[in-house]
Amino acid sequence: MEILTDSHNRVLNYLRLSLTDRCNLRCFYCVNDSVKFIPHNQILRYEEILRLVRLSVGLGVSKIRITGGEPLLRAGVYDFLNKLSEIEGIKDLSLTTNGIYLKENLDKIIGAGINRLNISLDTLTPERYKITTGKDLFGKVWDSIMAAHDKGINPLKINVVAIRNLNFDELTSFAELTFKYPFHIRFIEYMPMGEDINGNLLTPEIRSRIESVGQLHEVESGSGDGPAERFKFKGAKGEIGFISPISKHFCSNCNRLRLTASGMLRPCLLSDHKINIIKPLRDGLSDDELTKVFLKAASFKQKKHLLDSSPDKIVSKMHSIGG
Ligand code: 5AD
Ligand code: SF4
Repeated sequence: MEILTDSHNRVLNYLRLSLTDRCNLRCFYCVNDSVKFIPHNQILRYEEILRLVRLSVGLGVSKIRITGGEPLLRAGVYDFLNKLSEIEGIKDLSLTTNGIYLKENLDKIIGAGINRLNISLDTLTPERYKITTGKDLFGKVWDSIMAAHDKGINPLKINVVAIRNLNFDELTSFAELTFKYPFHIRFIEYMPMGEDINGNLLTPEIRSRIESVGQLHEVESGSGDGPAERFKFKGAKGEIGFISPISKHFCSNCNRLRLTASGMLRPCLLSDHKINIIKPLRDGLSDDELTKVFLKAASFKQKKHLLDSSPDKIVSKMHSIGG
């Protein structure tokens, strides 16, 4: 079997699928008023996505994460997840959501074989949530987190994008949640994607703030763990993770490929390079030929991202790529 490998000998076994570029929130750093969403006929249909996933699994992909925009907004998503989980060879199926529609759909999500959940939440105060996302829905997200916890979803990861003006004074409150709950709180450095936000916050500073709560002990990370550096407070139930795309390149062991809702393969989140697969798919190319498009996309994966040297180069917003 041919394996998806890039020209730097990295094996790509992890596909991130963005089901839609639409979102019910307007996080100020992600969506702005000038955003144009992709028309429905230019979005990959579920059957098309399933075909592409099968081909990628044939190339060694075994991990899939569903992202957006907000994936739970897309009509028919639970049926799709069921079909996806039936594809033999997928060993790990996970979902990133903003949590707004999670609580009432948890049984369907768990039933479809999703075994890991990431929920995006940048603040623990309802007022700030409203200012940050444009919607007064903090309570819904928190209820979803509690419901997922009650259903035994573990690990339940909470993604916190660390931004000085937004949540610097809340970083310790997030970290302290790990004493009470087995959550994995992951602090993510903000990646500049055309949005000018004030005052960047990097992991060393985030970490020293967290360490004012207590000493952090390193948690051994497994090979498939992705880019988070993992820690724990003594006696805590949960974990703290730092994701540092800016201060610490983790490109050298990146194993990911992204498929956007518009049918583009993106070798790297932090590069605008993309390979069109929707066109050859709709032009009727064979499985073999589409497989070649995957291999080509993999070969375009660059050695490391250029964010620190050319931060203004990336114009795609996260809602269109899926994070
Ligand atoms: N930098 C870092 N993280 C981001 N996210 C969205 N935009 C950015 C950015 N520019 C986060 C979301 C979500 C995850 C998929 O990516 O908050 O948790
Ligand atoms: Fe939606 Fe996530 Fe973007 Fe916020 S960061 S607007 S929740 S896609």
